[in-house]
This record gives sequence, structure tokens and C-alpha cells, in this order.
Amino acid sequence: MIYAAILGYGTVGSGVAEVLSSNRDIVARNAGEVIEVKYILDLREFPGDPNESKVVHDFAIIENDPEVKIVVETMGGVNPAYDFSKRALLAGKSVCTSNKELVANKGPELIALAAENNCNYLFEASVGGGIPIIRSINHALTAEKIDSITGILNGTTNYMLTKMDAEGVDYADVLKEAQDKGYAERNPEADVEGYDACRKIAILSSLVYGKTVNYEDIHTEGISKISSEDFKYAKALNRSIKLLGVFKDENGECFAMVSPFMIKADHPLYAVRDVFNAVLVHGNMLDDAMFYGRGAGKLPTASAVVGDVVECAANLGKNLPLNWKDEKVTLASFDDRKQRFFVRVAGKDKASECLALFGEAEIISIPECPDEFAFITGELTEKEFAEKSAAISGFIGRIRIA
Ligand code: HSE
Repeated sequence: MIYAAILGYGTVGSGVAEVLSSNRDIVARNAGEVIEVKYILDLREFPGDPNESKVVHDFAIIENDPEVKIVVETMGGVNPAYDFSKRALLAGKSVCTSNKELVANKGPELIALAAENNCNYLFEASVGGGIPIIRSINHALTAEKIDSITGILNGTTNYMLTKMDAEGVDYADVLKEAQDKGYAERNPEADVEGYDACRKIAILSSLVYGKTVNYEDIHTEGISKISSEDFKYAKALNRSIKLLGVFKDENGECFAMVSPFMIKADHPLYAVRDVFNAVLVHGNMLDDAMFYGRGAGKLPTASAVVGDVVECAANLGKNLPLNWKDEKVTLASFDDRKQRFFVRVAGKDKASECLALFGEAEIISIPECPDEFAFITGELTEKEFAEKSAAISGFIGRIRIA
């Protein structure tokens, strides 16, 4: 028997207890021993819950119990999860987490601490929920030079964009619907402004690069400026709009960003709908590989956490090295990044002015937006685009083209 403790008995934490109980035999077969939850740390009580008697309110009980070998951290946020994770690792207990905020902030430090204490800090569920993308990068794609990752990494915004695309709903209405369904938080900023996707692409980039890609250095734009009119144009262009996390390793220069992109109907990520996530990885030998699944939700996320628990249980007393050092990566310049842009302009009389600024481009007019037009630029840097677009008097907005 191997004992574990769960920190935070919310959606994912209670899902971990459920997966360990429902799949007890499968987990035992793969881990080599039965895994039993001994403690659940939470501020609340859970009367009537099957794990009611395991609830404790003081982390020291877990920290000081030598029987507990694995700690599941599903609290979310940096504090006190950081303090508890450090203390668990210092006590030689492996930590498995779904907490992308903590991993993006303190990942390399906690990985190093695990190595020093012959245990593990694993975080499969921090990116892509139930999709085994981190294990694939760390264990399966080890013969590859991964030169690009493009991901739909946030389920809430993908649900919203899918609805806007399929039903022509406005941003405000779809946000309310996502909140009513429990996908988006009352304060939806982390999802809709791209911060959640930013932390996830920072984690993936760091693992691929082996050094720390600081999430604060990643240019991040969310979906809050995307309108139903944008989708009307996208439809006319046989495209859709997706929030993408992008990582590129171009001859040793690392670039990452999060932004809405217009993608063509034949793009592999075009068909990823609703709350699903997908990660498209390109390797120099492999070419493309895509990982698809539920990026959020109680049991899919808990399944990924328990996968880590099994790995820790099967390797007690042994550190499994991870390729993520504390050394910071200087990202390639965002301003110099070359890109094509879809641009909307108010006033049909501005077309010749725009063509003079941007060069020849096909003018796109759609009957649903009679007082404006749009065009797609050739490749130009972000800086050049920002300068030129500032000179357009009727500029409405732009979306990057992938
Ligand atoms: N809010 C996140 C999402 C949850 O919508 O994808 C999973 O990290």
C-alpha cells in the first residue's frame, strides 16, 4: 500500500479521489501497489462525503507523516500551494499537480528540489487537462528536435469561439453563456485575455527548450476584441478564428506568443471545437503530430494527475530527470516577427489609401458589413504593421493569419 494526500478537495482534487477509487485495480497494477488516500487537506468539512474522515486542516500532519509518499496538489494559485509543495518535496514526498500557475512561476525550482530529495515534481495535468502532452514531450518525443508547437490550450475560449463561429453569437452573449455553463469564471480575465493559455505555452516551451521561458515575456492577446463581424469575414474566407499558443525554435532562437489567429479550413486545428484542446507538435524527423482531448473538466484532468501519481509510485525513492533548468530564455523580438494580418477598415472610400500603405491586396467586401471593407496584408513585421495601421483613419481591427 502506498499512501497519498490530496491538497484541495475541489473539482480536480475530488476527481483524483474518484479516479483512485474507481480505477483502484488498474492503478495498483500499473503502480505496483494499491494507492490509498490517507489525508485530504481543505479549509472546509465535507459531511456525507465518502472521504469525510480523511479531511485535515493542518498541512503539518501530512508533512510529518512518513507513510505519505505522494502529495497531490490541486489547490490552484501560487500561495500556499508553493509553500506546501516545497515542504512536501523537502520531506522526500513526490508532488503531482494540475496547478499551471505554480508550475509556470516556480517549475524549475520545484523540479530541482525534487531531484535533491530523490522524489519527483510532476505536472502533466497543468497543460491540456487529460491530454498526455507533457509525458509525450518528455518520454516519447526524445529523438526529436521539436521546432514548433501550436496549441488550442484553453477550453473556455475555444467553446466561446466555436459558438461565435457556428451561431453568429456576439462576444458578450457567448461569455454569459459560458459563465452560466460553469466554463468561464465570474471574473473571466484569465481565460478570455489569454493568461491561462500563456502559462501553458510557457510550460511547454520551457520543457522543449530545457530552459525557462518566462510567461511574463510572452506577448499575449485574448479574444475579448473578437466580434461576430470578424466571424462573418472568416466564413467568407473559408476560415475560422482560434486562440493559439505558439512556440517556435528557429535556429536556436526561441519565440512564443498567444493570440487569436484566422486559420484555414484545412488547418489541423480548425476542427477542434467546443471545450476541447489540441496541441500540434512539429519535430524535425517526425513532421506533425497532434494531441487532442479534453483540456479541462474533473475526471479528464484528474486522470492525468493520477497518471503522475502512478509514475511516482512506481519510482519511489528515485528521481526521474526533467529537462527544465532555471536559466532564463531571451525570447526573439516580438516587434521583428513577420506575420500576415487580416485588417478591417470603416468607410469603403479608404481602400486606395490602405493599398498605398500596404501594397497590393485583395479587397474583401461582405454584404453583412456594408459600411466597411477588409483586406489581408503580405508578410510584414509586427512593428511595421503597428506603424502602418496607426496611419489608417478608419482602422477597426486586425487578426493575425496562420
Ligand atoms: N480555464 C481553463 C480552460 C481550465 O478553460 O481551459 C483548464 O486549465
